[in-house]
Amino acid sequence: MRWTTKAHIQRILSSTPGGKWLYYHVGQRIFGGLRNFQIEEKLREGRTLLERLYTVGEHIQDRNTVEIGSGWVPVVPMFYWLHGQRSCITLDVSRLLKPALVLDAAKQLSTLSPSLLALSNTSNQTSLVEKQAELRSRIDNEQSVNTLLKYCQIDYRAPVNTSRTELPSESVEAVYSNTVLEHVPLPTLETLIAEMHRILRPGGITFHLINPADHFSYSDSSISTINFLRFSERDFAKYNSDFIFQNRLRPFQYRKLFEKQGFTVQLMEVIGNPTALQRFPRHNLHHDFAGLDDSELSAHDVYLVAKRV
Ligand SMILES: C[S@@+](CC[C@H](N)C(=O)[O-])C[C@H]1O[C@@H](n2cnc3c(N)ncnc32)[C@H](O)[C@@H]1O
Repeated sequence: MRWTTKAHIQRILSSTPGGKWLYYHVGQRIFGGLRNFQIEEKLREGRTLLERLYTVGEHIQDRNTVEIGSGWVPVVPMFYWLHGQRSCITLDVSRLLKPALVLDAAKQLSTLSPSLLALSNTSNQTSLVEKQAELRSRIDNEQSVNTLLKYCQIDYRAPVNTSRTELPSESVEAVYSNTVLEHVPLPTLETLIAEMHRILRPGGITFHLINPADHFSYSDSSISTINFLRFSERDFAKYNSDFIFQNRLRPFQYRKLFEKQGFTVQLMEVIGNPTALQRFPRHNLHHDFAGLDDSELSAHDVYLVAKRV
């Protein structure tokens, strides 16, 4: 499907009553990425992010955490529970949670080989295996999805204004997100990061995997992952929709936003898509992006770990 056609369909669905239901059930469950729901890719994302945290000498063992942007299934908080996270309040601006997918994810998590779940730099394999066994037995006993989430110490709250969470100040030890920040409009992102700072204890840590690539390129292989940088802000606004809002911020802008709110950035790793600029020569860029270096333009996975001092 052409990029513009897909963007138009998403815009229409996002403003139609029942459009979100159609997008999930027809677009994703029948034709899209949830036909055969597998958690491996989410686990890979959660694992590589957690490994970055360990790289800077931090961890989530016995930590009370908050996740921003739960999505359809809080796979990453469930995975972090296996790795010793004490609790997680997972928040989303939309109530998207799908109980059938949560159960599916729990089954997969409880049966995957521990070697697939382990981190490369550290792991308490024994407690991980024990937790998997307990999760399996609870699933076999047909516990409800709510009970399973509770057992994993996961508290799902949505819809929530994540820029005003109403959580007490300095009450949590870590705040994280997985492929969420690129979907938040800039003014909201500023207030969201200020809120992360408010709810974190001094010394608390925030860590994020951000994907600043053109998400339309995932369903249209004919375009580059930086195709959306050809447009002015005004023109791109015509293609943005609620389903897949993209702020197009580049990595250096995220660093600045966290620093502006008083965080010390401890790690910023930018992994680029090597073919992005081969498929989309620089002369196609809108002048707003023309002065940026290759790494800023072609960024595909951005890992950011910052400390509240
Ligand atoms: C691409 S999904 C990622 C979901 C999940 N983290 C995952 O890895 O599967 C992006 C999610 O971010 C949520 N989101 C967008 N803006 C948000 C905000 N300001 N605060 C919290 N969640 C937000 C969306 O509703 C959506 O569930």
